[in-house]
Amino acid sequence: MRLRLATIDDAEAVAGIYNHEVLTSTAVSDIEPRTLEAQRAWIAERSGAHAVVVAELVDSDVAGFGSLSRYKDRPAYATTVESSVYVAANHRGRGVGAAIIDELISVARTHGFHTIIARIEASNTASIALHTQAGFEPIGTEREVGRKFGRWLNMCSLQKML
Ligand SMILES: CC(C)(COP(=O)(O)OP(=O)(O)OC[C@H]1O[C@@H](n2cnc3c(N)ncnc32)[C@H](O)[C@@H]1OP(=O)(O)O)[C@@H](O)C(=O)NCCC(=O)NCCS
Repeated sequence: MRLRLATIDDAEAVAGIYNHEVLTSTAVSDIEPRTLEAQRAWIAERSGAHAVVVAELVDSDVAGFGSLSRYKDRPAYATTVESSVYVAANHRGRGVGAAIIDELISVARTHGFHTIIARIEASNTASIALHTQAGFEPIGTEREVGRKFGRWLNMCSLQKML
């Protein structure tokens, strides 16, 4: 497995992984699948410090991706990033997610960010365990701030100081 920065050409693979979660889980709060055009624009907006990383297998298959996005638009928050990580359902449980998180932490450190926040739906035990293992600590839960598939969603925030 190789970790590398995403290019626009990864948009189809990234959208495939992301849209699976849109349609089947509460791991993402989107309800409509992302179009290829929107996915291309999303990758294009993230280069340099706000990066998208993909995990590529030896057969060039993209097994997962992660990103560092602006935490908030206002300038005082510029030293904080928000992370996300998604692994294709058929490649889970083999260390891909952990490798992506470690790479995002490394990229964030390289670019001088001070801290990373991950916002995770409270029932997503896999993601909470993954982030905890990577050194993130819980900092609070927003209750019933989202709604999908007919149920309320609580959002946990986890934070890692860099
Ligand atoms: C969460 C997710 C990224 C984990 O990726 P993964 O490649 O399967 O995870 P890894 O194999 O690298 O596992 C690393 C650690 O995460 C935790 N973990 C992963 N899957 C888990 C599961 N199903 N249940 C509990 N813990 C789990 C474990 O602590 C694991 O360490 P271990 O193998 O030493 O026990 C993946 O399940 C996923 O993409 N889920 C859907 C999208 C999503 O929830 N993204 C996060 C949005 S906040």
